[in-house]
Amino acid sequence: MKDRIDSLLEEVEQFTPDNQEKAESFRLKYLSRKGRIAELFDEFKTVAPELKREIGQKLNELQTKAKEKFEAFRSRHDHDASDSEQTVDLSLPAESFEGSRHPLMLVREDIISIFGRLGFTVADGPEIENDWHNFSALNFPEEHPARDMQDTFFIDKDIALRTHTSSVQVRIMETTKPPIRMIMPGRVYRNEAISARAHCFFHQVEGLYVDKGVSFADMKQTLLYFSREMFGEKTEIRLRPSYFPFTEPSAEMDISCSICGGSGCNVCKHSGWVEILGCGMVDPQVLKNCGIDPDEYSGFAFGMGIERITMLKYGVNDLRLYSENDVRFLNQFKPVW
Ligand code: PHE
Repeated sequence: MKDRIDSLLEEVEQFTPDNQEKAESFRLKYLSRKGRIAELFDEFKTVAPELKREIGQKLNELQTKAKEKFEAFRSRHDHDASDSEQTVDLSLPAESFEGSRHPLMLVREDIISIFGRLGFTVADGPEIENDWHNFSALNFPEEHPARDMQDTFFIDKDIALRTHTSSVQVRIMETTKPPIRMIMPGRVYRNEAISARAHCFFHQVEGLYVDKGVSFADMKQTLLYFSREMFGEKTEIRLRPSYFPFTEPSAEMDISCSICGGSGCNVCKHSGWVEILGCGMVDPQVLKNCGIDPDEYSGFAFGMGIERITMLKYGVNDLRLYSENDVRFLNQFKPVW
């Protein structure tokens, strides 16, 4: 009898019930009332008294092992079954929504939506650009400082990371017959030391409108509409004469400070005004460079930094926060459900 118990013990130990069917036949074979172990317990009654102790211990060991095997399978299986029930109940509400939108993306979408209401569509272009699209077609002279290694990340003599989204203007004008009414959001790169106020990459939105008879007044009204939609209807704008190689005349645009409302604060350096973008009438030579006849068409362009707009909208005062992925920063932009 001892030998039979030992061989059953071995069988039980080697058995791995990995599905419901196998587990049930295991239970029937060993643990049921007519199973092998019950048989042995019956037989035990006939064992000689001097052997009872030893054989009894062995038998108990066998029974415990078999029960443990079966229970282990059952608890594992029950667990799996309840898991799969949960995954199929698609009607359960989510417990919490952990993600948040990046503030730059929120503002980017606001900008796209505001210009969308004026009929501007969105276009895209490459971040690795050649000299023609980033500089030459835009009238940058050979010796212009922006072409310098100090400002531009060059990949080789002719290829660089774009320093502004104006390169996309060129691509659009080369391939699209006016009327053109587009905005071009994207990431740009400049070789600057990283600090609270400067970064080696940031985001711009370029705007371009080319058609017959487009005037400076059209540009001014478009930008006034944008500013009031973005910063509130009391917002005022002012245009200061400026210079860009690819626009003539050129201007920089300030808005009345969105933080203090124009009464003077740290952000506007107590002037009541903050600069938000560069703009101007597309230089006739640039139109020509891109295959558009400047005698027939005119246009305006503008370019703004998304970081700057976000700074004014949300009071973010350090550019590094945007790319450090600190959840204490990002959590502040969680949607309120
Ligand atoms: N590309 C200019 C810049 O990066 C901005 C700009 C765009 C100015 C379009 C005028 C017209 O500073």
